[in-house]
Amino acid sequence: MASHLHLLSLGAPLLFTDAGEQIRFRTRKHFALLIRLAVEGGRKFTRDYLMDLFWPNVPAPRARHSLAQALTVLKEKIGREHLVVQRASIALVPGVVDADVHGLESCEAEIRGPFLDGFEVPGAVQFEQWKDEWRARLMPRIRDCLVKQMDAGRRVGDFATVERHAQVLLDLDPLSEDAVRGFIEARAWVGDRSNALHAFARFEARLADELGAKPSAELVRIADLLREGRRAAPRPAGAGAGQVSERCERRFEAELLIGREREFSRLYDAWLEVRRRTPRIVVLIGDPGVGKTTLTNAFVSTCQMEGAAIARAQAYDAERELPFAVLAELIKQLTLQRAIGGADPEALSELTRVSPEIFAAFPGVPKPVEWAAEVIPLRLADAFLKAVEAATDESPLVLVVDDIHAADNASAAILHVIARKLPHTRLLLILTARSNELRAAAAPSALASDASIEVLRTLEVEPLPPAAAHGLVAGLVVKADGHIADVPVARILQAGNGNPLALELLTREWLAHGSGSLLGDLEALNTQPVANIGIPRAIGAVFERQIRRLDAPTRAALDLAAVLGRRLADLPLYEVVDLSPAAAGEALSRLRDEGVLREVQGGLEFRNELIRA
Ligand SMILES: Nc1ncnc2c1ncn2[C@@H]1O[C@H](COP(=O)(O)OP(=O)(O)OP(=O)(O)O)[C@@H](O)[C@H]1O
Ligand SMILES: [Mg+2]
Repeated sequence: MASHLHLLSLGAPLLFTDAGEQIRFRTRKHFALLIRLAVEGGRKFTRDYLMDLFWPNVPAPRARHSLAQALTVLKEKIGREHLVVQRASIALVPGVVDADVHGLESCEAEIRGPFLDGFEVPGAVQFEQWKDEWRARLMPRIRDCLVKQMDAGRRVGDFATVERHAQVLLDLDPLSEDAVRGFIEARAWVGDRSNALHAFARFEARLADELGAKPSAELVRIADLLREGRRAAPRPAGAGAGQVSERCERRFEAELLIGREREFSRLYDAWLEVRRRTPRIVVLIGDPGVGKTTLTNAFVSTCQMEGAAIARAQAYDAERELPFAVLAELIKQLTLQRAIGGADPEALSELTRVSPEIFAAFPGVPKPVEWAAEVIPLRLADAFLKAVEAATDESPLVLVVDDIHAADNASAAILHVIARKLPHTRLLLILTARSNELRAAAAPSALASDASIEVLRTLEVEPLPPAAAHGLVAGLVVKADGHIADVPVARILQAGNGNPLALELLTREWLAHGSGSLLGDLEALNTQPVANIGIPRAIGAVFERQIRRLDAPTRAALDLAAVLGRRLADLPLYEVVDLSPAAAGEALSRLRDEGVLREVQGGLEFRNELIRA
């Protein structure tokens, strides 16, 4: 039969009807009686047992009377037909009350705390004993489930869920590393480094105090990442080529991510495969501004927390004709993080052709041998593959090429060669591309659509569903201290058509200009949603207005920044537009506050490539 009532006992006990109404008991013993009957639903209990359980120190006639009274109350609360009262025994009709403890087997139960948390029945010694036994018996299973539930949250990028479960586990067991880790990850996900680090410090101290033990190396690494954005400084002298040197990472800031559970979980599946040494290539494709970069950055920040080394290259239209630009950036990042120090010196030597940083990071790497120009790409591919393999020996590696459609053909071709002969290594390669532009890019599209690459998966990033789009707009309004009631949310959702960039710009613009904003113009222009009339045009218009509000120096900095590509944060360069490094720094930080630039891995880049254009 379908359950008629729901008993939540993992935490303070609560009883609900099927319709979600809470049933309360005036007398705690009555509730306790129901709990006792329900936890082993269907089992028959003798009257004597129940009397002993709840009224141990009263004369039998009185105890009998109290029990009878309690049963009357129960019948009233749950329906008399659901209670089987016989002369000698009492039971619930099986299935009438669905108790959450039964959901522990499959980890479906929502756990709020220990079994019957804070629920005491004074004087009922045997009931208390029974409760304690159950609590102890359930504890391992409860922990197990909390860890599994945290994992399920991680899988879809739902760190609010991770945190909720972590907090419960932490209350149950302050020495649980799983719990501390979940909590730290969740705090870091929302950018709350300070509480994340506090939690780590508390845990470390407690562990030392109570067990004389230390946190695992993995947890220490996470704390290091949070603390300085990098690991302990690399050993300078002596750490020559071929020697595995200390990793030196910069933390990837997670970005606010709304409504991407499906895509996140597909990426996470790939990550799990990679950890099992099956390499994966994931091509994220979608419309301009649909959220490919945001999703990727948020996702790789999770991989980094879980031990991956990350290298990310942004491809720029302006560098499309610059051979190996993208490859060079990847190698540079791997070098600066000391992630490829384990590669053989010959391979490193080959890679210095495109990334001279290697000489400084790994002293002793020989100068590359002269070769005919046409064999160089192949040698580079080979060397890069070796370097990648060396890096994956130490930890899983995630390489990201954002906007592969804008990559130079030489880099794309090398990545293609590598993709075709990837051995069993812990490599996850993520490529993002605008679907419309990918077709026109020869080498990148050859790579992204090569069906013969077995480990390649394509993932379409779709427009946000309405609820998520609404959440995005509402979040922006709150962040700008606006009132949602003043904002024509429905119109913005209609015009934005699920495109986060359009939604974001339209909302911002409305907040700044109210009814005189672009939203009205757009609607007048065309009744079709913005996404259909071309996001770039709409964005261009919004953006132009935004720029007009900037002061002259900031605008000058912006104009220059747009052509500087990856050297955007190179302050001395701004002398050409008459800005001192200090003034340039100020202008860039203003642009970041305005949402034009964003911080990625400690560096700055355009929030969206459309804005840059
Ligand atoms: N899931 C999301 N939750 C919250 N904000 C998002 C989400 N996706 C995108 N955004 C916001 O929308 C804007 C555009 O996103 P993003 O830059 O990731 O798009 P894109 O697909 O990479 O675009 P492009 O094709 O230009 O590279 C960003 O400013 C980002 O903050
Ligand atoms: Mg992007």
